[in-house]
Amino acid sequence: MKQIIIEGGNTLSGEIKISGAKNSAVALVPASILCDEEVTIDNIPNISDIDALKEILKHLGAKIKSTDSTLSIDPSSINNKEIPEEISKKLRASYYFMGAILGKYKKAMMYFPGGCSIGARPIDLHLKGFEALGAKVINEGNKYIVEAEELKGANIYLDIASVGATINIMLAAVRAKGRTIIDNAAKEPEIVNVATFLNNMGAKIRGAGTSTIKIYGVEHLHKCFHEVIPDRIEAGTYIIMGALCGDNLKVSNLIPEHLESLLSKLEEIGVDFEVGADFVTISRSEKYKSTNIKTLVYPGFPTDLQQPFTVLLTQCKGKSKVTETIWENRFMHIPYLTSMGADIVIKNQTATIIGPTPLKGTEVVATDLRAGAAMVVAALLASGKTKITNVEHILRGYENIIEKLSNVGAKIVLKEI
Ligand code: EPZ
Repeated sequence: MKQIIIEGGNTLSGEIKISGAKNSAVALVPASILCDEEVTIDNIPNISDIDALKEILKHLGAKIKSTDSTLSIDPSSINNKEIPEEISKKLRASYYFMGAILGKYKKAMMYFPGGCSIGARPIDLHLKGFEALGAKVINEGNKYIVEAEELKGANIYLDIASVGATINIMLAAVRAKGRTIIDNAAKEPEIVNVATFLNNMGAKIRGAGTSTIKIYGVEHLHKCFHEVIPDRIEAGTYIIMGALCGDNLKVSNLIPEHLESLLSKLEEIGVDFEVGADFVTISRSEKYKSTNIKTLVYPGFPTDLQQPFTVLLTQCKGKSKVTETIWENRFMHIPYLTSMGADIVIKNQTATIIGPTPLKGTEVVATDLRAGAAMVVAALLASGKTKITNVEHILRGYENIIEKLSNVGAKIVLKEI
């Protein structure tokens, strides 16, 4: 077990470089299976979710080579077999192997994925999509066998614009016969990144980033080189830290357009920041105004930044409201924030925050990845020492967080307990 200890109240200044996007990389790695030759993906973040995906690739018999941030995957030696529960449950994104393996080998055998406990997280839309393409789904307990004699293009309407279902159906449809149309598709930048990767291999996907994606099936996919986009959620987390503790903190190697909903909220509450071509420089101000946020699918305010942003709202004058519409269980950070001194009441899916309130260091838990990020934000701001346990969640999604924060002046250590 690991613990992060932070001595709060220090100013953050200097530069933090953003890594490759977790939620893109975790789809690109399974997507590589669809190729007939070796693919190379650059800007892969060094996080434990990627280690778990590499374990699955090795289990299947793929040849992989990693150097620093580059991962080369040759899937030609894969022997399609069941993915055991102990590895599939290490992360949510293991479900992308279902779409990719089905697309390539017409039969996928694996267990229900794991990931943060932020809601029920069903995969019914993924499975309905596979069925629409002609697959049969057999579900025994936690195990799924998805099989098709032939996959045929279909028109698929998603009841919810799900990121995972959009990507998984795209993966299954890439080598199907004919044309697939996904309507009410999710529009997140990670989906565009995955579609670009597949197109670089010779797939014909049009419209990724809009709510209608058309996939024209192809027979072969060839080698390619691809780059993971910068992580907009990691960037947003450090930008929020800058708004609370920064003095000219430069958060670089990001795509500002991917952060528009966050930046416009920062502007509204009175944060002082400058946006460059690929960076945001941010300093804390004395006074912030309260505001309301509602999490929505992209380009709305991202649910993955809701938890860190709530910490910022504790420092805004007046009453702010946070409404979570994507995940039913994403307020687990709130009791820990109140134990640090925040004034927050939850009713149904809305948290009401009265600020500003000083925060004081104490012992808290990272109940999930972004709740953990929120705890780090709060601890950096708080007076005194904060001990965060269950930090394995944080390390699943934030590359070198200890080094990145130490380099800009934070007093933060990771300890084995
Ligand atoms: C992705 O999860 C991200 N994970 C999540 O990031 C992110 O919070 C989420 O998208 C929303 O942006 C990865 O990319 C690996 P969804 P995903 O399918 O794909 C419901 C983080 O902190 N739904 O868009 O699993 C679902 O219950 C994480 O980095 C169904 O009902 O999310 C939810 O309410 C956590 N049936 C909503 O749709 C389905 O078959 C959106 O989920 C699929 C989803």
